[in-house]
Amino acid sequence: MTTPEPADRVLARASLADGDPTRWFDQLYTAAARGEAEVPWTRGTPNADLAAWAHPGEGRRALVVGSALGDDAELLSEAGWAVTAFDVAPTAVEAARARFPSSRVDYVVADLLNPPSEWRHAFDLVVEIINIQAMPREFRRAAVASLAGFLAPGGTAIVSEVAEESTDAETWEGPPWPFSRAEIESVAQDGVRLVGLETVRDGARYWATFTR
Ligand SMILES: C[S@@+](CC[C@H](N)C(=O)[O-])C[C@H]1O[C@@H](n2cnc3c(N)ncnc32)[C@H](O)[C@@H]1O
Repeated sequence: MTTPEPADRVLARASLADGDPTRWFDQLYTAAARGEAEVPWTRGTPNADLAAWAHPGEGRRALVVGSALGDDAELLSEAGWAVTAFDVAPTAVEAARARFPSSRVDYVVADLLNPPSEWRHAFDLVVEIINIQAMPREFRRAAVASLAGFLAPGGTAIVSEVAEESTDAETWEGPPWPFSRAEIESVAQDGVRLVGLETVRDGARYWATFTR
């Protein structure tokens, strides 16, 4: 007997075959809300590397990209950041609001590939963890440019993605599509500069910080 393919793979394949890099995310969250699928990246807890970083916000503005069910956004809110958190999947945004009904986080439906113009240079902290790599590589340049654009002067951007050097590129099948070191470094554009680049999780992920 063959094991059925997980819903995320099936939905991603159909969405990508239609040239749509993001449609499958909302379909997956909707199926999961009905108990018909699992969302593989949802853990019910904040990202451990971000929890270890969690600098105090002191009221400064933070933007969480691809906020999923809200755990990272809530972590930063608890640390004193004024958090805006966005996801392209409306069902994820609704679920995050429902999970944290008294939250101070502003949960928004938005697309990294076409973000609100008022977010340009508007955030003292920008957090991007394993979202850009979930879109095919042809969208990477636009997504990275958009990300760099959010960072305010003097702010910090955190970027964490699967490290290509830890994978077997010959056999690897996306999503996700890992990042090379040069692709991580490419966030340093348009006045943004690299502060630090290391690997975490035994070399499996890059953890990079930038400032403007
Ligand atoms: C692999 S999950 C990672 C979620 C979370 N950042 C984490 O670390 O667990 C990717 C998330 O990004 C969202 N996403 C994908 N493409 C996006 C885009 N273009 N704009 C905004 N959100 C996007 C998806 O809906 C999904 O919630």
